[in-house]
Amino acid sequence: MQFSAFGQKFTRKTGILQLMDDLGKALNSDKPVNMLGGGNPARIPEVNAVYREVFRELAGQEDCHNAIENIGNYSTPQGDAKLIAALADFFRQQYGWNVGVENIALCNGSQNAFFYLFNLFGGKFADGTEKSILLPLAPEYVGYADAHTEGCHFVSVQPHIEKVQHNGEEGFFKYSVDFDALNRLPELQQGKIGAVCCSRPTNPTGNVLTDDEMARLDALARQHGIPLIIDNAYGMPFPNIIYSDTTLVWHDNIILCFSLSKIGLPGVRTGIILAAPEVIAAVSAMNAVVNLAPTRFGAAIAAPLIRNGKLKDVSDRVIKPFYMQQAQYAVTLLKQELSGYPMYIHKPEGAIFLWLWFDNLPVSSMELYELLKAEGTLVIPGEHFFIGIDTADYPHARQCIRISIAQNADIMKKGIAAIGKTVRRLYDMQTA
Ligand SMILES: Cc1ncc(COP(=O)(O)O)c(C=O)c1O
Repeated sequence: MQFSAFGQKFTRKTGILQLMDDLGKALNSDKPVNMLGGGNPARIPEVNAVYREVFRELAGQEDCHNAIENIGNYSTPQGDAKLIAALADFFRQQYGWNVGVENIALCNGSQNAFFYLFNLFGGKFADGTEKSILLPLAPEYVGYADAHTEGCHFVSVQPHIEKVQHNGEEGFFKYSVDFDALNRLPELQQGKIGAVCCSRPTNPTGNVLTDDEMARLDALARQHGIPLIIDNAYGMPFPNIIYSDTTLVWHDNIILCFSLSKIGLPGVRTGIILAAPEVIAAVSAMNAVVNLAPTRFGAAIAAPLIRNGKLKDVSDRVIKPFYMQQAQYAVTLLKQELSGYPMYIHKPEGAIFLWLWFDNLPVSSMELYELLKAEGTLVIPGEHFFIGIDTADYPHARQCIRISIAQNADIMKKGIAAIGKTVRRLYDMQTA
């Protein structure tokens, strides 16, 4: 069977395919697997209890029309009207933004949103120019890497790396945007960038771009007449897995993407886009072609929880402290396993991962991934995340791995012990 160029592009062995495949197989495997590789959120009993209560209420509503309405009919291509109205009210009250229902569209997970947005603002334009998406800092979310139909789609620059302390301890580092390198980028100067995009907090590193960095990216996007896309999948107000003191800014040149996944509902596949009405109309039109209408099940759960404030409450009170504690636990284990070895942990500022840099690692992180996988521990090799930069002369890109901190204490302990054993052996062989 012959596939088209489109077919060939989307059936390649991509980083995201490997990640999702490993995740699915590990969850269905008979053998015990220390799953530190996936992007699944943790199962937190107190959070699950909130969803259970909504399920019960939805199922028990006497007025059948109310209960079934959300899933018994398609919504408009823009998405479920009740959730959109609840979100517009919420954003106005919470942040004072001038937001109406014309500023919000839903889609089937924020992954779906990025596919739309990257193809809306990147690729071939009517005037013949071909535009890329600028990722101001790589490593970035691996799910962006192949989410485009044509062209060489992403441009990025190497980050600044600064060794920092965390809670008074050494052994940490933090990435920041190299604005000089960004400003020198030929694609930016030649009008070949269609949008700027960053995740904040960042998957895979847990980095949170500072307010100053965000203000500069905002100014850069406006200066070049292109939108700034902010991927807020881990940010405030939900799931609010963000520990640094930052603010969330929105105006009509910013496209802010939210998700219900990391509050514990990845299976409902609900993403939210907040943007200028022109962008929302474009996303709605794309939804009609690709999906007819976005899923309404997540909307049925989220709308009452937005209206009664419980989603924000459970994010602030339960989800955020939970991951903060998980990060601290993982850091403690890593420090025990690898003290005296050249491991640096990216300062944990949010999201559900730790990003580990093994300076001068004798093997590539891809080889480390294979060694760990053979021993029953899954991590994600760092190479895949350096999207849009040439990694051939960039050893740092082959010295990092991402581990999930969403697992229970036992799996984290076993998985980190396996990482410690293998990495110690590799370094010891190097010096022997
Ligand atoms: C930074 C980031 N953005 C977007 C997504 C996509 O999430 P979803 O499609 O489940 O909303 C993920 C998933 O892991 C992510 O980590």
